[in-house]
Amino acid sequence: TKNYDYLIVGAGPFGMTFAYEAAKRGKRSLVVEKRSFIGGNTHTHVENGITVHDFGAHIFHTDNKEVWDYVQNFAEFNNFQNQVVANYNGKLFNLPFNMNTFYQMWGTKTPAEAKAKIEEQKSAALKELGDRQPRNLEEQAISLIGTDIYQALIKGYTEKQWGRKATELPAFIIKRLPVRFIYDNNYFNHRYQGIPVGGYTQIFENMVERSNGLIDVLTDTDFFDHKDEFMAEFPRVLYTGMIDQFFDYKFGELEYRSLRFESETIDSDNYQGNAVINYTDAETPYTRQMEWRHFDGLADEGKTIITREYPQDWDRTKEAYYPVNDDKNTELYKQYVKAAREEAPEVLFGGRLGKYRYFDMDQVFNDAFNTVRQEFGVADDFNFAHD
Ligand code: FDA
Repeated sequence: TKNYDYLIVGAGPFGMTFAYEAAKRGKRSLVVEKRSFIGGNTHTHVENGITVHDFGAHIFHTDNKEVWDYVQNFAEFNNFQNQVVANYNGKLFNLPFNMNTFYQMWGTKTPAEAKAKIEEQKSAALKELGDRQPRNLEEQAISLIGTDIYQALIKGYTEKQWGRKATELPAFIIKRLPVRFIYDNNYFNHRYQGIPVGGYTQIFENMVERSNGLIDVLTDTDFFDHKDEFMAEFPRVLYTGMIDQFFDYKFGELEYRSLRFESETIDSDNYQGNAVINYTDAETPYTRQMEWRHFDGLADEGKTIITREYPQDWDRTKEAYYPVNDDKNTELYKQYVKAAREEAPEVLFGGRLGKYRYFDMDQVFNDAFNTVRQEFGVADDFNFAHD
């Protein structure tokens, strides 16, 4: 067997970025991945010329120039902006909440008219509340934006996402509801946005290819089928799986929300006219429907692929997508962090599952850079994009 410096568990963006940076520093890694492909949840595949994101729509958006420049090394990005349309019982609204949405909702045409309308809606809600604090998500949302927008664009969608009534969800889930008094449907505020032309998987394939043979990847390999051998054999481990599973759930299970995806190939050049349509009513069982050809416009003629995203409860047989960062789980996570420090000092825990946090891709790259800085003693002002 080769003399590996690292065992890396998980071939997602965190694990692969660390492996690539380690290779640049002459270190050899074995990456084990339980799925049959690399890229983690950003994995994409191409079908009929259409790049399909296998785990939901992934749009790269960031203000972090270092991260943005870094990913440009591995793929060419287009200038895609997510401009989501909401379908509420057949009526269409632009998202995020902006002058278009307010026009569609109330016919208001100027920022002053829209502001007045929102104030009127909010003050009615605040009057109802009196002097007590919002007790649940519904009261919180109405006090921030009023009834009309809440009913049409927040209530049903949120209830489907969490699998619970808005009146039974904690208020803290919604801290702010940003509104824009300009006609601007760009979902994200970030300066740098786009999709890698041809998909995300190439980013991680290129990392392997450019590692001078210092990265080996074993797919279809679950760390837990060989944990004892791996731990005995490797001096250092980077683990990006679920932290509670690493410790055999000894303090209990961290909770997640899961998703189910259902895709369909349709004979059409343009089925829904937009990349993402959110279904914000409570009755439609899915939350969004993606049409992949609209992300990069490279699809072959005549075929289109759509994917519907259904939220579902999580259990160990399902994919863990969104951590439930409430007080109970936060406390539990802290116990695992303590165990990691005391019982597994040779293991680095990283990525969204290792840290039990929702990370966007840019945050994952940035966090991987920080782990590299810690591990290799690279100065804080080291720029990963230009070395
Ligand atoms: P990731 O989950 O990608 O990789 C971890 C890997 O470890 C997986 O491949 C897993 O199979 C493997 N693994 C786990 N346990 C293992 C074991 N025991 N043995 C072997 N392998 C194991 N971000 C963004 O910036 N823009 C966006 O638009 C979106 N959209 C989006 C939509 C949806 C529906 C979700 C759920 C998430 C997003 N994201 C996103 C977030 C994005 O998916 C996320 O930032 C990255 O995938 C996180 O990368 P990691 O490497 O941390 O984990």
